[in-house]
Amino acid sequence: MRKQIVAGNWKMNKNLQQGKELCSSIMSQIGESNREVIIGVPYIHLASLAELTKGTALKIAAQNCHHELSGAYTGEISAAMLADLGIDYAIIGHSERRSYNGENNALLVKKVDSALSQNLKVIYCCGETIEERRLGDHFNLVENQIQEGIFHLSADVMKNIVIAYEPIWAIGTGETATSSQAQEIHSHIRKVIYKKYGPDLAESTSILYGGSCKPSNAKELFSQKDIDGGLIGGASLKAEDFISIIKA
Ligand code: PGA
Repeated sequence: MRKQIVAGNWKMNKNLQQGKELCSSIMSQIGESNREVIIGVPYIHLASLAELTKGTALKIAAQNCHHELSGAYTGEISAAMLADLGIDYAIIGHSERRSYNGENNALLVKKVDSALSQNLKVIYCCGETIEERRLGDHFNLVENQIQEGIFHLSADVMKNIVIAYEPIWAIGTGETATSSQAQEIHSHIRKVIYKKYGPDLAESTSILYGGSCKPSNAKELFSQKDIDGGLIGGASLKAEDFISIIKA
């Protein structure tokens, strides 16, 4: 059975007090949920929220990490530092970092390796622009992002990877991929994993959908065969919306 995962991505939102309140509110409501619940929070809140969630079911993710473990990289944070705080996951390759910070697959390989070397699990993001979809390039593009970013890993190490498919045109726009559009590409991603690694890994890898996922569409999206949960931006900033997505 694949792990079902709901991960929040707070992006650059919430001050520390607001973050603590949201975090506490989520913790009090997830109870014994058999899903993996993760929140991806700003770097400066990691230490406090890791402490607050210690020993609970709520896992913490960083939204990025540097590709080197230490050194003269002003303003950067390494995977070693994250691991030292007891952080569980790093989100790597989010489309906002790909586009605003010029992160390409070649750099992302190094970030993935760096995170895994510190025993962090990785949520690896992929997804196409609207132009790429209109040209019918989305299958190839997503396949490439996956092949170039994570297919150098052994099957054993791949067990620490969660894939998040996030069509860029659906992120923060209110426009969601239909459940069949999302299912179609998730199934393609699973086939690509199957071709490279075989049935066991294809069956066990969790593939999340992200892009304007909200309480009103989560159930429909998550009911698709190859959608194992979501990476949630805007709707993860309100405890009740996030909880209702987890319940979906
Ligand atoms: P959104 O963001 O839910 O606000 O569309 C998703 C994401 O970027 O992870």
